[in-house]
Amino acid sequence: MELQISSRVCQNVLITTVLSICFSGILFTYYKPTVNWINQQTVSRPDSCNDICINALKMSNQTEMVNITSITNLLTQAEPVTPTDPDTILLIWMWPFGAKFDLGICRSRYNIHGCRLTDNRDQFNNAHGILFHHREIKENDMPTLPRPPFQKWIWMNMESPSNSGPRSALNNLFNLTATYRLDSDILVPYGRISAKTGGKTTYTIPHKNKLVCWIVSNWNSNHKRSQYYESLKQHISVEAYGRGFNKPVSNEDYSGFVSSCKFYLSFENSIHKDYITEKVYHPLELGSVPVVLGPPRKNYEELIPGNAFIHVDDFSTAKDLAEHLKLLDQNEDLYRQYFTWREHFVASSTYFGPEHACWACDHIRRYKNYRAVNDLNGWYWG
Ligand SMILES: *[C@@H]1O[C@H](CO)[C@@H](O)[C@H](O)[C@H]1NC(C)=O
Ligand SMILES: *[C@@H]1O[C@H](CO)[C@@H](O)[C@H](O)[C@H]1NC(C)=O
Ligand SMILES: *[C@@H]1O[C@H](CO)[C@@H](O)[C@H](O)[C@H]1NC(C)=O
Repeated sequence: MELQISSRVCQNVLITTVLSICFSGILFTYYKPTVNWINQQTVSRPDSCNDICINALKMSNQTEMVNITSITNLLTQAEPVTPTDPDTILLIWMWPFGAKFDLGICRSRYNIHGCRLTDNRDQFNNAHGILFHHREIKENDMPTLPRPPFQKWIWMNMESPSNSGPRSALNNLFNLTATYRLDSDILVPYGRISAKTGGKTTYTIPHKNKLVCWIVSNWNSNHKRSQYYESLKQHISVEAYGRGFNKPVSNEDYSGFVSSCKFYLSFENSIHKDYITEKVYHPLELGSVPVVLGPPRKNYEELIPGNAFIHVDDFSTAKDLAEHLKLLDQNEDLYRQYFTWREHFVASSTYFGPEHACWACDHIRRYKNYRAVNDLNGWYWG
């Protein structure tokens, strides 16, 4: 749901303002009614808040904790492409969420050459790849012509299995997957922690005037996150905003709001492996410390430095977490430990649609091998 609106909002955005608009796009969902569719140092559960504080200190040596190469593995192992190779054509069968984007974006934004994106279905017989977005797949709107033998069909989905339904017609159809899951053929996470290009720099923590914040649009008392919030607020005051609380935050206010919070509750709406969304990457971008609820800490640490966030599982109770947050509120040095990773790394979030299309086109250009995803339903929803 968040994804849907952010894509719409992002569609007309200039490259340089993509991120900020995307932030607001996400915010948009919190008060605008939407169609409801579907480290090195392991932190074990500490007995007291002090243990986690000590662990946080030990984790300051984090420069090797993020392995970007593993994310771009597929591309780095690829076959060499010569400039004389003809352009690779990727046909966007339907615009993800109906949101168009600039067809020249692979070159202008990602510096990917030799990829030609098109939405002209007449190009079917020439297209090396076809991109299908799960939400818009309709059985009566699939290509009917025989597929050229070289052509690869790509399945794109960023929603968790809980938020998107399986379809019987999806098996034995696609060649490549493009999702947030780390075992996708084309990996498109919700964000990235990248090494700073200019080397080490200091980071100035934005001004804070709130302790714990949460923005939620979709309140469901059965969600694990709602139950955790109910416990947490018994022990610490939470600034709860968003449609779920009838306290919308405007697009303009979103970035400033998140920046001004010492901690932000990055609670996922459903819990699945690798489902680590913009709810984490936005506070990381905006200078807040995410308190995450989702898959296990180990899973987060595959993508995000272990000392950049606090995991609810680090504490045996919500009360212990609350005490830890209060301690960090009182102790500036301890709080700063959650920002040391920023000397070497910078967080960014994904521009949905274009990232899938460009990485997919680049992938097809470099990998000519046979590939088929036979049991897509079993892989994603099994
Ligand atoms: C910690 O950083 C130092 C250099 O600052 C490096 O030599 C050492 O290998 C790092 N330790 C680990 C476990 O990565
Ligand atoms: C990063 O990932 C690559 C590929 O999986 C691996 O070869 C390399 O050793 C990893 N580097 C670190 C520092 O973990
Ligand atoms: C793509 O997958 C389909 C369905 O499994 C298969 O028939 C086709 O040969 C595959 N094509 C390539 C180029 O891998």
